Amino acid sequence: MENRQAVNLLQELAVPGRRATCFPPCDVPAVELNSLIPQEHLSEKLPELPEVAEGDIVRHYVSLSQRNMSVDTHFYPLGSCTMKYNPKRHERWANLSGLIDVHPLTDEAEMQGLLGILYEMQEMLAEIAGLPAVSLHPAAGAHGEFAALLTASAYFEAKGEHRTKVIFPASAHGTNPASASMAGYHCVQLKPSSTGFVNLEDLQQELGNDVAVFMITNPNTIGLFEKEILEITRMVHEAGGLVYIDGANMNAILGKTRPGDFGGDMMHYNIHKTFTGPHGAGGPGAGPIAVRDFLSDFLPGPVIEKVEHEPGKESFTLKTPRYSVGRLRSFLGNIGILLRGYFYIRTLGGKGLRQVAEHAVLNANYLLSQLKDVLEVPGGERCMHEFVASAKSWKQKGISAMDIAKRLLDYGFHAPTVYFPLVIPEAMMMEPTETESKQTLDHYVSAIKAILQEDPEYLHEAPYSTPVSRPDEVKAARNPILAWSPCDATKTCNATNPEEGAGASQTEAVSG
Ligand SMILES: Cc1ncc(COP(=O)(O)O)c(C=O)c1O
Repeated sequence: MENRQAVNLLQELAVPGRRATCFPPCDVPAVELNSLIPQEHLSEKLPELPEVAEGDIVRHYVSLSQRNMSVDTHFYPLGSCTMKYNPKRHERWANLSGLIDVHPLTDEAEMQGLLGILYEMQEMLAEIAGLPAVSLHPAAGAHGEFAALLTASAYFEAKGEHRTKVIFPASAHGTNPASASMAGYHCVQLKPSSTGFVNLEDLQQELGNDVAVFMITNPNTIGLFEKEILEITRMVHEAGGLVYIDGANMNAILGKTRPGDFGGDMMHYNIHKTFTGPHGAGGPGAGPIAVRDFLSDFLPGPVIEKVEHEPGKESFTLKTPRYSVGRLRSFLGNIGILLRGYFYIRTLGGKGLRQVAEHAVLNANYLLSQLKDVLEVPGGERCMHEFVASAKSWKQKGISAMDIAKRLLDYGFHAPTVYFPLVIPEAMMMEPTETESKQTLDHYVSAIKAILQEDPEYLHEAPYSTPVSRPDEVKAARNPILAWSPCDATKTCNATNPEEGAGASQTEAVSG
């Protein structure tokens, strides 16, 4: 019989009368609740909380956590996501009481330490970007894109220019057109290019006085540094547009080159990727943006400013830029992730950050060199911090990129990103990051080679070792069943078909 402490919900594990906590007897006079809170705001019945013992709760969550793959448990080469190891000392520091216990409404004067750290973070991000003005507000990379595009709109409006288009290459991350369209722009995608690089003639054809922004990821999404980036940024500027650098791939160039130096006017960071905020499952992120001087007045605010009272005596204050596009996040942003990023940068320093980029690129090139004989790599034999392999030739033999990805889970590896970018058939985008050893990479290569020798029919049903095998991913994304409903004992729980199952199994299918 299966132990269902992990998959049953706490409501299902509950037994009336069980408790995780015993409160000591009250040592102050008891007061009637309705003498403190007006009767109309009081509920007539107690909330229906699950009644469970501490052991039930701990086993439930620990077992659940063991069903996940994570950077703490497995190699996680998910391309474009930079799933590097998150150092535990930064966790510890970000959880110091003086930082974590600051109430969001605390008076500025009472949180000078935290403001000082965030000011320094702004300064460090400006330096790494080569762009002087930073807003820490955006809560993720996509939010940063949106924030920067709003900033660009406000800038053009102030100049009296009516620019309506945003251009991006065919390999762009889906968030680029999504952000542009949310910011009210007309999206123009360049034709897919056979080399993986932006085709300058195609770009020239689209440029005109209606173009507001050209968005580009560099290194690009197939792991190549855009060789013509200086020419690209020159062309966009000549047409009066701004260049947005999607900074998701900063891990490859930290301390080597800067978006501001190769012509970018605005960029976002993914602090949770490049600077090791733990992330995954849509979880918390931070996507600060950095922009050129002439855009600083339009940034989302407030930003943090340093006030010099006299030499050596300074304080920090919140200031909303003059023509700010407004507030995009409550309070000061996702501070928890910003703090982890801050400690990461301070721990490594300039030299350490450069080494991060060097080792990330070295690891990716090693992996590429070990896999190129079994998987085609359309971008060539050299890459930056990641590369895209293609399982196209294996597809003809009945093995798809999805089969390989799913089977890798049985071998104890998280799958690479598959079917992105769309311009490469049967794409498998691999990003080992700098935190992996040669031994880990060698094991991963051996696993892929072993999988390619397996029976295609067997692979179609993989994975075999996970609680859920192949959920309907489109349905799980489009129609997630997020509300709990009690398990119907007359039906069998069916994890792959939520509609046939009940309660707990529905949640499983969605999260699988
Ligand atoms: C190239 C690129 N741009 C933008 C994003 C969006 O970042 P976020 O997931 O933090 O919103 C991603 C995320 O994977 C990405 O890979």
